Amino acid sequence: MTRNLSFPILLLFLATFLSLVSGWDINSQNDRHSCQAYSRDPLEGCDRKRTVYVDVVSSDSKYKTVQSAVASLPNNTDTYIILIASGNYTEQVNVTRRGPTYLIGQTAHPTSQSHNTVNIIWAAIAVPGLDNAFTSTLTVAPNLNASLTGSGPTGFAVPSGTPFGCVDFRTYNLNFVNNFAPYSDDPSLALSISYANGGFYYTGFYSYQDTVYVGKLGNAYIKNSEVAGQTDFFYGFGTAWVESTSISLRSCGGGITAWKGTNTSFPNAYGIYIVDSNVHAANSSLNITGKCALGRPWNAQMRSIFAYTYLDKSILSTGYIDWNPARYNNYTLQAEYRDYGPGYNVTGREAAKFDVQLTPEEWAQYSSPQKVFQYPDGRFGNTAWIDWSV
Ligand SMILES: *[C@@H]1O[C@H](CO)[C@@H](O)[C@H](O)[C@H]1NC(C)=O
Ligand SMILES: *[C@@H]1O[C@H](CO)[C@@H](O)[C@H](O)[C@H]1NC(C)=O
Ligand SMILES: *[C@@H]1O[C@H](CO)[C@@H](O)[C@H](O)[C@H]1NC(C)=O
Ligand SMILES: *[C@@H]1O[C@H](CO)[C@@H](O)[C@H](O)[C@H]1NC(C)=O
Ligand SMILES: *[C@@H]1O[C@H](CO)[C@@H](O)[C@H](O)[C@H]1NC(C)=O
Ligand SMILES: *[C@@H]1O[C@H](CO)[C@@H](O)[C@H](O)[C@H]1NC(C)=O
Ligand SMILES: *[C@@H]1O[C@H](CO)[C@@H](O)[C@H](O)[C@H]1NC(C)=O
Ligand SMILES: *[C@@H]1O[C@H](CO)[C@@H](O)[C@H](O)[C@H]1NC(C)=O
Ligand SMILES: *[C@@H]1O[C@H](CO)[C@@H](O)[C@H](O)[C@H]1NC(C)=O
Repeated sequence: MTRNLSFPILLLFLATFLSLVSGWDINSQNDRHSCQAYSRDPLEGCDRKRTVYVDVVSSDSKYKTVQSAVASLPNNTDTYIILIASGNYTEQVNVTRRGPTYLIGQTAHPTSQSHNTVNIIWAAIAVPGLDNAFTSTLTVAPNLNASLTGSGPTGFAVPSGTPFGCVDFRTYNLNFVNNFAPYSDDPSLALSISYANGGFYYTGFYSYQDTVYVGKLGNAYIKNSEVAGQTDFFYGFGTAWVESTSISLRSCGGGITAWKGTNTSFPNAYGIYIVDSNVHAANSSLNITGKCALGRPWNAQMRSIFAYTYLDKSILSTGYIDWNPARYNNYTLQAEYRDYGPGYNVTGREAAKFDVQLTPEEWAQYSSPQKVFQYPDGRFGNTAWIDWSV
């Protein structure tokens, strides 16, 4: 009799023990999806000890804004997850903490960005005297100085000794919108990341100008996501790898990419790499056929590569352009590798002055995240924060 009773209890203990040992894992799609799924108790399927729930609607929710939930986390190296209920959140979110911080949206379709149910919305534009940094809907940086853009070829001189911020920041199934104006006016950032590593999955970034900013010592990995903009809407000093992402042209202005290179005492791969992605007009009523440039040199050491990417007919026959006044020189790398589609005009590219086609050997130098993401001291292979399961 006692045997029969204790056996199920033993099993229960064993199951509990195993679940504690194996643990909830952000890199496990099953674990993450079950936390994101709708349930009567929203934290069902989540790692309860480390997850904070935010709900803009529910009257009994402790946190109604994402920023209040972020502010509740200690500034230490522990891992925290913030689960965000469906809804529209009108606020700026600013993450300075060092430890792994994962913002995940509630959804029944965790592998589809177009079904996202969480929008974080802000409306701001840079005005004279106010740095671009202040406009961003989402900022990931250890402090204000680290996030400042500044001006000139080298930008704001971030003081030496500035600490590194979040070592592993991530978003899944969230949209970040800066809707100051429905056209390109001045910088209106949706993302600003500097002195930090960030992975963005099934995430949308929407504005018209300077939408995604990857600042100094910023590493951004964007996958299965959407970025929509008009002018220079991927820009920065850091390193961005954008893969399997929809790049939506809301009109043409400047270029899609505009980067500033930096002279370091070690070899660097700072730049923007757009791989296996899809560049297309936002809709068919836009008259932009043959008008949109792939990019332009924000400084002469711009490094930008579109590889294995589909380009629709919106793209200029000669690909990239120069800045006005001219900046392009022999330190500039504005390149493509095996792009295709109606926007890849072979005769146009042969005549291009500011666009180069890489050889397989040249592309091999940059052909994976391991080859481009660096630690602040210049060592390559800073990728432990990337979720390869997506
Ligand atoms: C967080 O902690 C780090 C390390 O102690 C420190 O350098 C940083 O200034 C702190 N950030 C904030 C916003 O307090
Ligand atoms: C959020 O805003 C969008 C666009 O304004 C709107 O279509 C949607 O219904 C809103 N969602 C909620 C949950 O209020
Ligand atoms: C983000 O928060 C930090 C720490 O509170 C603050 O110093 C900084 O000004 C904020 N950044 C922005 C762009 O508001
Ligand atoms: C920010 O940078 C300015 C200019 O270099 C410097 O005077 C100031 O002390 C810095 N602030 C912090 C908090 O590091
Ligand atoms: C097409 O996209 C542009 C840019 O986002 C927008 O202003 C316009 O309203 C859209 N037109 C249609 C018919 O959706
Ligand atoms: C980097 O060094 C090169 C060669 O000395 C110089 O032409 C360029 O202006 C420098 N760039 C920056 C951003 O300092
Ligand atoms: C595109 O051009 C057509 C024909 O010229 C015109 O009717 C339409 O209004 C234009 N659309 C936009 C968004 O400018
Ligand atoms: C770039 O061109 C200048 C002359 O205009 C030359 O001195 C320099 O060595 C060249 N640099 C590279 C990296 O080719
Ligand atoms: C391709 O580019 C060439 C040279 O710029 C241009 O003459 C031609 O019209 C372009 N073809 C298309 C289909 O845009």
